[in-house]
Amino acid sequence: MIISGNNPGHVQQAADALSAGELLGLPTETVYGLAADASNESAVAKIFKAKGRPSNHPLIVHVASVDEVKKFASEVPDFAHKLMTEFWPGPLTLILPRRAEMAAVAAGGQNSVGLRCPSHPIALEVLKACAEKGVWGVAAPSANLFGRVSPTTAAHVQSEFGQDLLILDGGECDVGIESTIVDCTRGVPVLLRPGQISRIQIEQACDLKLVSPDALSSDAPRASGTLESHYAPSAQVRLMSQAEWQKALTALGPHTQNLALWSVDKPSQELLGAGLFWRLMPTSASQAAHELFGALRDFDARGVRTIWIETPPDTPEWEAVRDRLHRAAA
Ligand code: TXA
Ligand code: MG
Repeated sequence: MIISGNNPGHVQQAADALSAGELLGLPTETVYGLAADASNESAVAKIFKAKGRPSNHPLIVHVASVDEVKKFASEVPDFAHKLMTEFWPGPLTLILPRRAEMAAVAAGGQNSVGLRCPSHPIALEVLKACAEKGVWGVAAPSANLFGRVSPTTAAHVQSEFGQDLLILDGGECDVGIESTIVDCTRGVPVLLRPGQISRIQIEQACDLKLVSPDALSSDAPRASGTLESHYAPSAQVRLMSQAEWQKALTALGPHTQNLALWSVDKPSQELLGAGLFWRLMPTSASQAAHELFGALRDFDARGVRTIWIETPPDTPEWEAVRDRLHRAAA
């Protein structure tokens, strides 16, 4: 059931559901989450079950403010503190050493915990209402089945989990891709997942160089968002340069079938056959991120079998979109 996040009574209803151990579709500025009380083991177990996600893949715990961090983290390095001060509330998740007694199931048994204070006003209202009831953290992975495209509207969430799930509608997500994840448990900041908050912004805020996980030894924490194939629609995704898609379209001529193209330039009229669905790719990376998952879902809904996507420029502002596209194509 979808209820409006603009109605204060519904926000309270959402917080009540969470504190009663139920699941909730929660809007955030990045993507919608499938939320549960992070300290309630059976509620958290429902998340893993509903998503079909392995229970050793840790979930992000969402908090109302920096004040709640010390409830979950046993230690906050100085650079992590700087990052929270600079970017919270916002689309940044920090992995911190976990207090042994807190959120073990949500953390997938890791001795660390991922914490994030989201900036979506409705998410913050829910988190504050939860905190008033003694629910200090809300565990929420993206509200999609394991390996599939993250949801950016309440309707997407409903299409993944059906009518029974309570979903708080907070409109279309602003950012459109998941938060940047920085591991703060290794003495230096490690970028586990790129996002809207960029590498450069993070390095500037904490005055340290970001390390990439490959540079570190093996026992790196599991991050399903970092699995090679992830964020995948049903149709097959292929990344192509503009020259490649133009050549391939020309070769197909009038025989295109069940094909979608997401590109910056519109194909010429003679190439725009009946079997081709074309969509404009924004030239701004943040706008492309905003549209990305909705576009993939839309292509699937149209029943296309193949999606050709123009490879975005190899520049820093496109890092997060390129990352999601490469995984969707894997
Ligand atoms: O924007 C977001 O981060 C969204 C919204 C709902 O907040 N959430 C999200 O959650 O993307 P999820 O579960 O789809 O991705 C979270 C990622 C996973 O790859 C998970 O493995 C990683 O964070 N993660 C969480 N806790 C971790 C930990 N303790 N150590 C390492 N990775 C962790
Ligand atoms: Mg996810």
